[in-house]
Amino acid sequence: MAKLKITETVLRDAHQSLLATRMSMDDMKPILSTIDKIGFYSAECWGGATFDSCIRFLNEDPWERLRILKREMPNTKLQMLFRGQNMLGYRHYADDLVEYFVQKSIANGIDIIRIFDALNDIRNLETAIKAANKEKGHAQVAISYTLGEVFTHEYYMDYAKRIEEAGADSICIKDMAALLTPYEAETLVKDIKSVVKIPVHLHTHYTSGLACMCILKAVEAGVDGVDTALSPLALGTSHAPTESIVATFQGTEYDTGLDLVKLNEVRDYFMPLRKKYIDEGLLDPSMLATNTNALLYQVPGGMLSNLLSQLKQAGKADQLDEVLKEVPRVRKDSGYPPLVTPTSQIVGTQAVFNVIMGERYKTVTKEFKGIVKGEYGKTPVEIDPEFQKKILGEEEPITCRPADLLEPEFETMKKEAAEWTEQEEDILTYAMFPKVAPKFFENRRNKKYGVDGKNSNAENKVHPV
Ligand code: CO
Repeated sequence: MAKLKITETVLRDAHQSLLATRMSMDDMKPILSTIDKIGFYSAECWGGATFDSCIRFLNEDPWERLRILKREMPNTKLQMLFRGQNMLGYRHYADDLVEYFVQKSIANGIDIIRIFDALNDIRNLETAIKAANKEKGHAQVAISYTLGEVFTHEYYMDYAKRIEEAGADSICIKDMAALLTPYEAETLVKDIKSVVKIPVHLHTHYTSGLACMCILKAVEAGVDGVDTALSPLALGTSHAPTESIVATFQGTEYDTGLDLVKLNEVRDYFMPLRKKYIDEGLLDPSMLATNTNALLYQVPGGMLSNLLSQLKQAGKADQLDEVLKEVPRVRKDSGYPPLVTPTSQIVGTQAVFNVIMGERYKTVTKEFKGIVKGEYGKTPVEIDPEFQKKILGEEEPITCRPADLLEPEFETMKKEAAEWTEQEEDILTYAMFPKVAPKFFENRRNKKYGVDGKNSNAENKVHPV
């Protein structure tokens, strides 16, 4: 009997989507062992923006967080989100660092690495997939789902086949912008399942109000697993509520096997926290409202709020409509990149410049130039050579895998991070966020040693170098 697998996202995507990734370890820790007993297929709990948020805002060592998660949840597979050759940062890294990151993630407790590339360029995923295979981790490759002429089922089927050939253990349809509709979910799952043997998962956001129906149709079409979020942090820009999905399939051939009474215990824990987040202003209740604008503008919810805040800063908040109309043009010019980190920020910022400067591409950001040049990989559609010339001038476009142009960088990072390094993993923290990490390391040191120079928190000092 096909049992539907549930990936619980409350510890990562749910709070990344609703409260700017600010759930701290103090908020998570008391409930982890209860979550561990639910029987989830996996708990998505690390990677994505959590790493950045840990060191930038929460003063938490992300690696220590991972070790605690593993210790408190020994029976649940821990899952992370990983941006392929970008790792958890915002540029391409050399292969040696990608391999090292994957190795350290698995060594510290990750079981499933969900890897994706913003451009769906398989070459940007191969190093991470191979590294996960080598470390005996589960490599799940996510297809960045988007709409547009070129994004036919043939396109997704072809990509799915290449993902399987590259050595992935499963595939995830990643609908970050909530563009998927129920009947599209049904046929897309059927079509992808018809060309691959590995399991297929569905990750869809609730933004446009369709997630529960998409999940229902996808499950009927044979999808193997879905992502949900416990109800206190579900809906809005987050996911379908775990309890509702569990209830939907109870007693059917897709029964998840999860217990609603036990799930309620976890709900009871998170409800007061939800109130706390609202009181603190971290969770804006308007984020919980359904917004079908996502379907109209085809931009992810997070991108919409970013555009608005950029415009506000420029004193041009009234030009949001123009910018939303500009986004599809910029996307077309730059070869139809799906809008997901980092391409959503890059395309969005360029669209804002085009509108507020009153002339298209009068100012071109370094990152936008990077996409046009091929620094992020191959775009789904070839960029018009004339446009490319206009943006690049004399510079030659890149056609090879971008990371092939990068020299190994581990040794350099190790040297640069040396004065801060207390554990080998710190080298990776530094490599990803060289500007923010030193301040975090300094705070960590001060916290540990206190003013009298004594180590006031010695038990936390693990994995010394
Ligand atoms: Co997501």
